[in-house]
Amino acid sequence: MLVDSFGRVATDLRVSLTDRCNLRCSYCMPPEGLEWLPKPELLTGDEIVRLVRIGVERLGIAEVRFTGGEPLLRRELVDIVSRSAALTPRPHLSITTNGIGLDRLAAPLTAAGLDRVNVSLDTLDRDTFVKLAHRDRLPDVLAGLAAADAAGLRPVKVNSVLMRGVNDHEPAALLGYCLERGYELRFIEQMPLDAQHGWRRDTMVTADEILAHLLTRFDLVPEDPGERGSAPAERFLVNGGPATVGVIGSVTRPFCGSCDRVRLTADGQIRNCLFATEESDLRAALRGGASDDELAERWASAVRVKKAGHGIDDPSFLQPARPMSAIGG
Ligand code: GTP
Ligand code: 5AD
Ligand code: SF4
Repeated sequence: MLVDSFGRVATDLRVSLTDRCNLRCSYCMPPEGLEWLPKPELLTGDEIVRLVRIGVERLGIAEVRFTGGEPLLRRELVDIVSRSAALTPRPHLSITTNGIGLDRLAAPLTAAGLDRVNVSLDTLDRDTFVKLAHRDRLPDVLAGLAAADAAGLRPVKVNSVLMRGVNDHEPAALLGYCLERGYELRFIEQMPLDAQHGWRRDTMVTADEILAHLLTRFDLVPEDPGERGSAPAERFLVNGGPATVGVIGSVTRPFCGSCDRVRLTADGQIRNCLFATEESDLRAALRGGASDDELAERWASAVRVKKAGHGIDDPSFLQPARPMSAIGG
């Protein structure tokens, strides 16, 4: 088991498959992009599947979420999913994606054993999309969402990060769109993980603000708090349910106390927290000939020293050197 010194158990592995992306969302990356990890530093498909297997067989990992950058850009994705689905016990398998290319990949991924997808959608307005993501790809995202739903990757969850003066007027429209199609929408507070270090606490759109905005148009009742478990999203029944909307208040309503996550970066580093300042190098161990036992032990040691929380409100808070695109969200 992967247990930390506060007794939290990590059962949810988030694997970043690449740091590359075909969008440039400003809460994540600058318009000109970043210097990508060199190919030899990336774990190969075989290396990824080996580490997932060790997590599942020896360390109690029950859920595997593939992230990026943009995970659909990784050529071996379908193969990695199908090999992960063949493990015993079979982990729950999902991806968090920007949706571009999902129109083509939703069916093969489902056939390979993928269970679910979360798709980022911050706006329904094409001009706002271009302003926010610096690429004119809104129609591709919407097509990807529809394809995921058609392939049965349900519930399709939608992630919206609200940015002041850009898309903060859109919550009601986004919720209307998702309600009509049966997608589960979650609004996310922006976190200080952008490569440009442009995040400011005083301009962040807060969970309270988002809820106040939605309440002007919808009736919201908190779902039974017992159902939240370790999930980041607080969910509300909309207009009597059964549809829900979620708010992920990572900054103002942190859920670190019940965190069950551990992360593997595309270059083979274990991060015990999104905001970890230190990583543990599994790639060096793996390429140095370490056994499954040795890799499992190194991984467990990395989780043991996980901090209590993200500490964003501490005066000494330092944003991690790795940006969101290289951690995977
Ligand atoms: P589901 O299990 O499908 O509900 O996924 P999720 O909401 O946990 O993950 P997703 O990849 O969709 O991420 C949604 C938002 O939650 C993103 O902004 C993530 O960065 C954020 N998030 C995911 N995991 C963590 C975490 O461990 N800590 C914090 N603070 N935020 C997280
Ligand atoms: N703060 C909060 N969420 C973010 N995401 C990307 N960058 C940030 C940030 N700085 C979200 C994406 C995607 C998920 C992986 O994380 O919108 O849905
Ligand atoms: Fe877990 Fe770190 Fe996220 Fe808190 S900030 S929920 S400890 S990953």
